[in-house]
Amino acid sequence: MSQPTMAAETAATRARYNRIAPVYDLIETLSEQSFKPMREKLWSQARGEIIEVGVGTGKNFAYHPRNAHVIGIDLADQMLARARERARQLDVPVELREGDVQQLTFASNTFDTALATCVFCSVPDPLRGLQELNRVVKPNGKILLLDHVRIDQPIIGRLMDVLNPLVVRLWGANINRRTIENVQRAGLCIEQVEHLGPMGMVKLIVARPNK
Ligand SMILES: C[S@@+](CC[C@H](N)C(=O)[O-])C[C@H]1O[C@@H](n2cnc3c(N)ncnc32)[C@H](O)[C@@H]1O
Repeated sequence: MSQPTMAAETAATRARYNRIAPVYDLIETLSEQSFKPMREKLWSQARGEIIEVGVGTGKNFAYHPRNAHVIGIDLADQMLARARERARQLDVPVELREGDVQQLTFASNTFDTALATCVFCSVPDPLRGLQELNRVVKPNGKILLLDHVRIDQPIIGRLMDVLNPLVVRLWGANINRRTIENVQRAGLCIEQVEHLGPMGMVKLIVARPNK
């Protein structure tokens, strides 16, 4: 993706999440019940110096390991404002910053773990974001992802393609991303994929950087 296109799409993504921030948790109340055990499972593998990208309103804070240092970044300041309030309420010592996973400001090989839940469905240039995770994670570290993807089934998959532009406008997320393929194309080494949720449309991906 060219630099001007990425900048415009990133600005649009930020604006969408700032707009939906006040209702984000409310609208996701039902689906969150099924996501809770998946979040817990993903976080059980996180260690050491951790970066959580696309931290959103802080739904993962309850699962942060007690002895780890976690830095959370997000594009949208209105999502971050809610995350700050949740961190205060739960007394979670997370360090929160505005940031873009496509252009991280951290030095290479900074983190033991990078983690993202329901984020690479909305990052405008997912390959670039995944390559940035590859860069900032130490060679023996882990990249842990949980995301919904396009269902690989002719009719439903096509329907997801047709509805995608509308969903992106309303809710910020692409419903037809091929995230496993994106992780492979970004050059990361996939160690494990679990197929969860209805029709296996939620993927829990454990990957290692490829240095
Ligand atoms: C669907 S929400 C998920 C929030 C949270 N991870 C969760 O599980 O509830 C997607 C989040 O990713 C953030 N995001 C999208 N693109 C991003 C980028 N390029 N860099 C950092 N955050 C981004 C959005 O602002 C939003 O807060």
